[in-house]
Amino acid sequence: MKKIPLFLLGLFLVKAGQAAPKKNEPDSVYLFSYATAKNNNHNGLHFAWSRDNVHWLAIGNEFGYVQSDYGRWGSEKRMITPYLLQGPDGTWQCVWSLNDKEPRFAGVSTKDLVYWGRQSYPEVSKGNTVLKPVIAYDAQQATYVITYTSGGKYYQVTSKNLATYSAAKEVSAAAYADKSVSLALPAGNVTGQVHRVAWPVVEKLIQNYQLKEYQRLQNAETTLQDSVRFAGLKPVDAGIQVHAELAKPISNTLLGVFFEDINYAADGGLYAELVQNRDFEYAPGDKQGRDSTWNSTHSWKVKGNGVQFAIDTVRPIHPNNPHYAVVTGGSNGGGVVNAGFDGMAVTQGAQYHVSFFARQEAGKSAKVLVQLIDGDKVIAQAVAEVRSGAWKQVSATLTASGSAANAQLYIQPMVNSIHLDMVSLFPARTFKGRKNGLRADLAQAVADIHPRFVRFPGGCVAHGDGIDNIYRWKNSIGPLEARKPQRNLWNYHQSMGLGYFEYFRFCEDMGAEPVPVLAAGVPCQNSGSSAHGGGQQEGIPLNEMDAYIQDVIDLIEYANGAPTTFWGKKRAEAGHPEPFHLKYIGIGNEDLISDVFEERFTLIYKAVRAKHPEITVIGTVGPFFEGTDYKEGWDIASKLRVPMVDEHYYQTPGWFINNQNFYDAYDRNKSKVYLGEYAAHLPGRPNNLETALAEAIYLTAVERNGDVVSMASYAPLLAKEGHTQWSPDLIYFNNTTVKTTVGYEVQKLYGINSGTSYLPAEVAVNNGQDNVKKRVAISVVKDAASGDVIVKMVNLLPVTVNAATNLKGVSIANTQAVKTVLTGKPADKVCKPVESTCTVGEQFVTSLPAYSFTVIRIKTK
Ligand code: AHR
Repeated sequence: MKKIPLFLLGLFLVKAGQAAPKKNEPDSVYLFSYATAKNNNHNGLHFAWSRDNVHWLAIGNEFGYVQSDYGRWGSEKRMITPYLLQGPDGTWQCVWSLNDKEPRFAGVSTKDLVYWGRQSYPEVSKGNTVLKPVIAYDAQQATYVITYTSGGKYYQVTSKNLATYSAAKEVSAAAYADKSVSLALPAGNVTGQVHRVAWPVVEKLIQNYQLKEYQRLQNAETTLQDSVRFAGLKPVDAGIQVHAELAKPISNTLLGVFFEDINYAADGGLYAELVQNRDFEYAPGDKQGRDSTWNSTHSWKVKGNGVQFAIDTVRPIHPNNPHYAVVTGGSNGGGVVNAGFDGMAVTQGAQYHVSFFARQEAGKSAKVLVQLIDGDKVIAQAVAEVRSGAWKQVSATLTASGSAANAQLYIQPMVNSIHLDMVSLFPARTFKGRKNGLRADLAQAVADIHPRFVRFPGGCVAHGDGIDNIYRWKNSIGPLEARKPQRNLWNYHQSMGLGYFEYFRFCEDMGAEPVPVLAAGVPCQNSGSSAHGGGQQEGIPLNEMDAYIQDVIDLIEYANGAPTTFWGKKRAEAGHPEPFHLKYIGIGNEDLISDVFEERFTLIYKAVRAKHPEITVIGTVGPFFEGTDYKEGWDIASKLRVPMVDEHYYQTPGWFINNQNFYDAYDRNKSKVYLGEYAAHLPGRPNNLETALAEAIYLTAVERNGDVVSMASYAPLLAKEGHTQWSPDLIYFNNTTVKTTVGYEVQKLYGINSGTSYLPAEVAVNNGQDNVKKRVAISVVKDAASGDVIVKMVNLLPVTVNAATNLKGVSIANTQAVKTVLTGKPADKVCKPVESTCTVGEQFVTSLPAYSFTVIRIKTK
């Protein structure tokens, strides 16, 4: 055997990660784990280290290595009195108290104190609290023992893995062996546990902190620092060498839209209904009881003397729609008025379809006057007739004699008593003229993006606030009066008027693939505690999962089944006998990846794959681009061979600029990626040119990786002014105006200039600074349908970039190309692209203005 020289052996050891100890390096040190009550216990677990157990050094500035993931963001996710212990196999186990109201504690394991696994939150007693849990190892039983206090008593549970636990039993105070100590650290007096560890453990913690610091600085990069960062920077020359011969196919559904009923995007927004609370189903629970005016009478008021307006539930139109209005005294000359969603915008000369369900107690014929009013002015009116003692729908058409931004609907029953429900007013002009349709200008703004797919109905709305709030698609189809409205998790009301049928039809009207996302049998990871107690931790009970899975399977039949099938028939009855050609189904939305999740996701996934192998199931990998949910979600996807996963990340422009290589090394043999939610967020500032260009830069990298990223959608899409729960958004609107953002222009430029193959390009800049290079990004794609080659170039520098492009191997058919430029100042909230023609050849030079996005569309042979 050949002998390895000693000096080389040393190199091998270093390579294998066994760094040679430095001279002054200790072999073992003390490690102190602790948390503080700062920031309402949100800061997580911190570490300090010491050589002598006397002098301590904090790692980072109270850097948090693991945070609690239990319950709602904001009010929950608290880590109280964490207790850390290293088990005999070296694995660390940590438990902590969650709050002072639930009989649960948190448990989690880690091998290296840097990557922490799934957290578990067992319900361990029926008491109200689980305080100060401590963990010990019982070597005889080979199990962990967790002892905690509750109501002045002590209890114990055991667990082998901190995933499943024994039942709690009461123990004596003597059994409570808390080995915590208090130390005076620079940050104050803190309580925690002291451990003895090998030096590399601390070294890794420090390195991890340093890495996070490095990333934090990158993420904080904004154009506000450009005057310093790029002081004296001269215009930059960039050379772009395109390699047409290396073209690779990319997804032809890359850019789509994410629709969620957030920010009043549906009712009061895209859904063209002008009457608010048309079904009298608003309920205090929609706003978690925090608004006493939010009830069945919301948006309605009485006008005129002697009229009374009450709500009844005795004989509703349908059990799903139990409330209706009883209007009495209308014959005295008064009626009821609906205020709409911030009023109703009415256009002179336009027609409006009014309809309502009514019934007269007496069973005789009665006239009902319907008017559109603008203050005291009547701008349209009609008279409808109610002839029945049973619920019947009546309708009329109104033509507006004037325009008004703030009109209201007035209904005057010319009879002593009448029952009313489903009072509706739609503009005759909806998107594509659809009945029960969409607001034409808003829908058109979405269609103008040329989305290849539409994700719906969310976002968090899809999986709901607790299992009772999961969006059930069957509640959203069929006759409007029989749909089942529900609380919107964003704290308002979902009428379900815009339901699955309407979503599918919208997709079809835009030529976009429908991508419905259904809950994975678990609710939103931000759910609070529910009536069932578990909130976020609660899954649909396993004995109800078969029925839930059947709902998922039925959706495929509803979308694609023949009209002779049970659910296909329902689609046909709604006016669409042809299938909707559903190809994708998302299961789960950035869920907490827990055992509860995995069990339910696996059941649904396997059932859909077995019954419908033709459907691409999209799994979920948490709300962030890293961390436990991301890793655990990907592990599940790889284990089950899920065809695609849904990634989400809202990050700073600095993150997008510095992570253009995010997908470069993704394994092409694993699941494809649907980047289902992303946006560049500048804390405290709106969507502007800077965020839009950061997104444009990142999308060049997404196109480059269009062989692994199949779909991408900015989120959220729509926001109504005055009702915005989430910011920034892509399109803002009020009742009369649609206000597209700069980010919208970027999405649109990508949407209308998408390609089916990617032509790799090398970019060289005459400036050695990495800061400069990463702010110049190029993507070249070819669109098979038109044959056009499209060059996208982003310049996020404060100076011009002269880009010399070499398109060797591309046969240019027309040297006159269409050039579109979006530019302005970084803080600009409104910028519009400007189109012109430019001359191109195999080699051509383009001047890219400071802070700009340029798209050149070239005809090829
Ligand atoms: O896009 C807004 C919200 O962000 C979505 O509902 C949710 O999935 C994410 O947290």
